[in-house]
Amino acid sequence: MLIRLPPRHDILPSEITPEGVYLSRRKLLGGALAAGALALWPAVAGADRAGLVPAVADDPRVPAWLRRQVAARRPGSLSAPPDALTPFEDVAGYNNFYEFGTAKDDPAEQARDFVPHPWRVRIDGEVGKPLDLGLEDLLRNVTLEERIYRFRCVEAWSMVVPWTGFPLAQLLRRAEPTSRAKFVAFQTLHDPDRMPGQRSRWLRWPYVEGLRIDEAMHPLALMSVGVYGRTLPAQNGAPLRLVVPWKYGFKSIKSIVRISLVEKLPRTTWAELAPDEYGFYANVNPSVDHPRWSQKRERRLPNSLFSPNWVDTLPFNGYGDQVASLYRGMDLRRYY
Ligand code: MTE
Repeated sequence: MLIRLPPRHDILPSEITPEGVYLSRRKLLGGALAAGALALWPAVAGADRAGLVPAVADDPRVPAWLRRQVAARRPGSLSAPPDALTPFEDVAGYNNFYEFGTAKDDPAEQARDFVPHPWRVRIDGEVGKPLDLGLEDLLRNVTLEERIYRFRCVEAWSMVVPWTGFPLAQLLRRAEPTSRAKFVAFQTLHDPDRMPGQRSRWLRWPYVEGLRIDEAMHPLALMSVGVYGRTLPAQNGAPLRLVVPWKYGFKSIKSIVRISLVEKLPRTTWAELAPDEYGFYANVNPSVDHPRWSQKRERRLPNSLFSPNWVDTLPFNGYGDQVASLYRGMDLRRYY
């Protein structure tokens, strides 16, 4: 998300102007760059990511049962775009995870020592059976599958990622949603000691996101615990994150500790910070430009900004045949 760099002293979110350009403090190239950096910044930030990606496949800090369960994933049926996969190094080296810094290579570096085990997730609100589950209980008897999804960031870069996970609907059903459950609210861990980005106050922590209940129940909405057959690297949202492939990437909230079924449209981090730029629905839509850039095309990682290989962005990120009916009758220019 391209936002203005907060000054050294902490400021309230309400004081942040969502216009302008965010410059990473480590990649700060001088005030003179401010105008041009909007285009330059992501490419610069990704330039030195080689070597930042830990060998997660056999990370001894991850429980062996989880590594085995992820490795034993089955091929999923609801995926497989014809596009080439984005290399693991880019999936795990070019990230947005503001709890671990604001440059694209900050999360891989700053989350190195983040060990998300043990981990608990609470499911509460409008449910018949509130749950408070350790990760092992959450994944007990769950068949993990691999789904290859396109992943489109609102910043106009994209990836094709083999996620390992299971349908969110499966987890929600275990809590027995009541008829008053109209929306689902998700919350990331809040722990500034372990997530240093949360010590600054430019975003209101914890990061929160939400879906309408029918979106959350859609078979494409995935809870992911792995990529490329390995458990999720911390920078990708370990141990458990959401992946909603037809929406801009900011809806895919990471490191989830709480899921609440609620009656009213929940508060969401980016819509609260800049409602004109990041809506609640955030369906990928090439015909609605972001106020500061076009959404018609996207840069597939690992291509740089200067690569000629930009591709057309597809409505609903190419999943329209499966999800467009969720929005029948809605003006998607208004509810973006
Ligand atoms: N979840 C949390 N908790 N914090 C974040 O900063 N960034 C979002 C989303 N989920 C974010 C988050 C954004 S803007 C994007 S594009 C994706 O994560 C990036 O996911 P990736 O780094 O695994 O590619």
